[in-house]
Amino acid sequence: MGWVLRRRDHGGVIFIDLRDRHGITQVVFNPEVNPEPHAKAHQLRSEWVLAIKGKVEARPGDMANLKLQTGEIEVLVSELCILNTSKTPPFPLDEDSEVSDNIRLQYRYLDLRRPEIASNLIMRHKAAQAVRSYLSDNDFLEIETPMLTRSTPEGARDYLVPSRVNAGKFYALPQSPQLFKQLLMMGGMERYFQIVKCFRDEDLRADRQPEFTQIDLELSFVGEDDIMAVAEGMVKEVFAATRGIALNPPFARMTYQEAVSRYGNDKPDTRFGLELVDLTEKLRGCGFKVFNTVIDKGGVVKAINAKGCGTFSRKDLDDLTNYAGNFGAKGMAWIKVKEEEWQSPITKFFSEAEIAAMRDALDAEPGDLILFGADSSSVVHQVLSELRLELGRRLGLMDSNVFNFLWVTDFPLVEYDSERKRHVALHHPFTAPFEEDLELLESEPLRVRSRAYDLVLNGSEIGGGSIRIHSSEMQARLLKVLGIEKEEAEEKFGFLLRALEFGAPPHGGIAFGLDRLMMMLTGSSSIRDVIAFPKTQKATCPLTDAPSSVERKQLTELHLRPDWKEN
Ligand code: AMO
Ligand code: AMP
Repeated sequence: MGWVLRRRDHGGVIFIDLRDRHGITQVVFNPEVNPEPHAKAHQLRSEWVLAIKGKVEARPGDMANLKLQTGEIEVLVSELCILNTSKTPPFPLDEDSEVSDNIRLQYRYLDLRRPEIASNLIMRHKAAQAVRSYLSDNDFLEIETPMLTRSTPEGARDYLVPSRVNAGKFYALPQSPQLFKQLLMMGGMERYFQIVKCFRDEDLRADRQPEFTQIDLELSFVGEDDIMAVAEGMVKEVFAATRGIALNPPFARMTYQEAVSRYGNDKPDTRFGLELVDLTEKLRGCGFKVFNTVIDKGGVVKAINAKGCGTFSRKDLDDLTNYAGNFGAKGMAWIKVKEEEWQSPITKFFSEAEIAAMRDALDAEPGDLILFGADSSSVVHQVLSELRLELGRRLGLMDSNVFNFLWVTDFPLVEYDSERKRHVALHHPFTAPFEEDLELLESEPLRVRSRAYDLVLNGSEIGGGSIRIHSSEMQARLLKVLGIEKEEAEEKFGFLLRALEFGAPPHGGIAFGLDRLMMMLTGSSSIRDVIAFPKTQKATCPLTDAPSSVERKQLTELHLRPDWKEN
């Protein structure tokens, strides 16, 4: 049984490519052998649904199609039953035709019939199965947590659900099960996991959906190394089960500080070099005014040696400069390294010693291209990390068959949010600080490191977690540093502070973005390709037309008084 993919009428014999989830089989209607089904087969069209009975036969030698899994056989039909007809699909399902994303999502059930998305979903199933069996074998319990809950601060905006029976009150859809999984540890469950939907109302990108899926874990009586080992074992199982790839943990580790300094960001793609090199000290007092002014103001000058790119044209350089501009660069000084004199509008500003120092620091050889960023360290890191990735793409340095895992550790506990004018947790406010940094917690919170870790795969953050605070005093102390005073803390997190007072075990955990992991495993460039019914960039669903308007009565029942105009 299956769907008609193609019909070929060779004036006499009719061939149908019959498709089901497993692939395509050629079925043959031969008027001389079975005239009755052959007569019916004339009317068959794309996407009609058939049941056939027949005899599997080897295709005549020269007719075999070795590109197709079933290419050496065909089925000679003796009975044909038409189970359903179909309108002509809005886009062809039998070729890699360019179809707009909106049409694909509007007719997602047809899109799913195409092998690309279907095979991604099959792989996703295998990954989920591998996760369940690995974690279950390692003594984890799969436990569900509420979807209608209260807002917890994960950093994004909440999706809110108004309560009908409690006028003026709202549930929030969980941004993650963070507090519940901690409460499960306080409830003595010791090892929890869940493959769970999370909801975040944030600006969407190629690797972000408003609702996405986490593989969420929490463990009691553990340290960082235990959690990382469990996570590594799980990822290893998933890669073996889905792609037959044998990973070799333990994965490399790098501190946040080193990652930012060498790659400009906290999720470095370590498949290639082109690292950032700090030239600030070497160029202090140099003759190039732009750099000097930046350095005097406490900024930094960093550079990338784009190996072998000395042949870039003026246009290439202008393009890169524009690209850098998108990320806040005020310019992009460059030098082409030559045997003799270095070629650049700015070479004349540097002394012999400065040129030699740059050559050494950057390992510059004739034929190389040096790109500079000069600004505050945050701008330079942002700009050069994006330039580095752009060069990696242009130069084809991102091998999709290489899987480079990296643990990033020692994150700062807090960062300063200039909009809210207070410190905010970098991970979340339940993450434990480094014991040895505690004395700085109130005086210099920005210097306190946290026991958080992210797992990065080829430059994508696929997971993150931390060791948690398990003392109520420490939790209250941290909330205070975050500008959440006692009353507000009691109002928002009273239930957690209370639970921490009743013998909370030391605990920690991690959550993986299953969708992002599947993007990497399937090599998809859009997160939508690994989700059965994804949303668009504007958080809409073209298939169901969600979000939609609702009746006024529904709103009043929910105690909502819309003040927008109905159209
Ligand atoms: P975090 O916020 O880092 O941690 O999320 C964990 C992982 O979820 C994925 N992810 C997303 N994937 C798709 N679309 C999104 N909008 C999106 N947002 C996040 C990322 C990320 O690494 N409760 C903590 C975990 C913990 O501390 O145990 C948490 O949610 O791959
Ligand atoms: P100017 O002196 O403004 O003509 O700049 C000389 C070179 O320095 C040009 O290539 C600019 O793109 C570059 N440049 C200017 N500002 C910066 C900056 N903040 N970082 C890196 N390069 C810069």
